[in-house]
Amino acid sequence: MQVTNNRESFSDKIKEYKSRGDKITLIPTMGNLHQGHQVLFSKAPKNTVKVATIYVNPLQFTDDDDYQNYPKSFQTDLEVCRKNDISLVYAPDGDISHEVGTEKNIDLPKFTRYLCGQKREGHFLGVYKIVKYFFNIVYPDFACFGKKDFQQLLLIKYLANTYFPKTRIIDVDTVRDANKIALSSRLTRLSKESLSSTCIIYETLHNMKSELLKGATIDNLKEESVEYLESNGIHVEYLDVRSLITLEEATDRLKSCGIFIACYLDDVRLIDNIEI
Ligand code: PAJ
Repeated sequence: MQVTNNRESFSDKIKEYKSRGDKITLIPTMGNLHQGHQVLFSKAPKNTVKVATIYVNPLQFTDDDDYQNYPKSFQTDLEVCRKNDISLVYAPDGDISHEVGTEKNIDLPKFTRYLCGQKREGHFLGVYKIVKYFFNIVYPDFACFGKKDFQQLLLIKYLANTYFPKTRIIDVDTVRDANKIALSSRLTRLSKESLSSTCIIYETLHNMKSELLKGATIDNLKEESVEYLESNGIHVEYLDVRSLITLEEATDRLKSCGIFIACYLDDVRLIDNIEI
């Protein structure tokens, strides 16, 4: 496995693979790799060269404390990459925002303004810029992204359709822990007690899904569910039933819809979603 923090040498290595006729799968990450990332690594099509990036992108953080406190474990991450047959890791050194953020007048699709886009202004612009930056260097044949960050996944599909039509985006089902909570680097910041109460989040999504399928009204169910979560110390930022295609709020038709949540536990922000 090769590791580089230099854009030129990264780009040279990519060119080398391409000149040999290799197909490339790119897996962008912010490090602190867990089982969720490893499942992404395992979804790279066979016989493709697996390339990972590890970079905590300041452009997508809306809170400086959150950025500064983002968990880092670079040496362990490299071990994880090695075990998962990653051929090349690009881990830019320091803040590369000056190289990344040069494009002006970017008009992102409407769905980026809902859910996390509404609560975290500039977040998706930051994600868009960094992923486009990596895609521009690699022009990958495949790229893996998780459904846990469903809104991000839709944005990446838009990016690929618009600028990288030859790149196939592989979406990967959410990987959960024993409490059914979606694995996230942020879970390491929870106390043991809070970690065990995370099971309430999935339980709520799951119950909402079965009640909706039995005909419950969205608004009533939403109100009850928020109350239940709040009474268990989970502060709800949003809990919505929305289209999986446009992210518009669902009315009464549940076809191709999902339930989306963002909430806080111990001041740690967690997101999750399930398809109905
Ligand atoms: P990060 O949070 O490190 O996640 C990297 C990739 O792993 C994303 O595609 C994310 O959806 C996926 N992932 C994380 N937890 C997962 C889980 N429990 N199950 C399935 N997939 C999971 O997402 C980012 O980094 C950044 O925004 C990035 C795309 C790298 C741009 O900076």
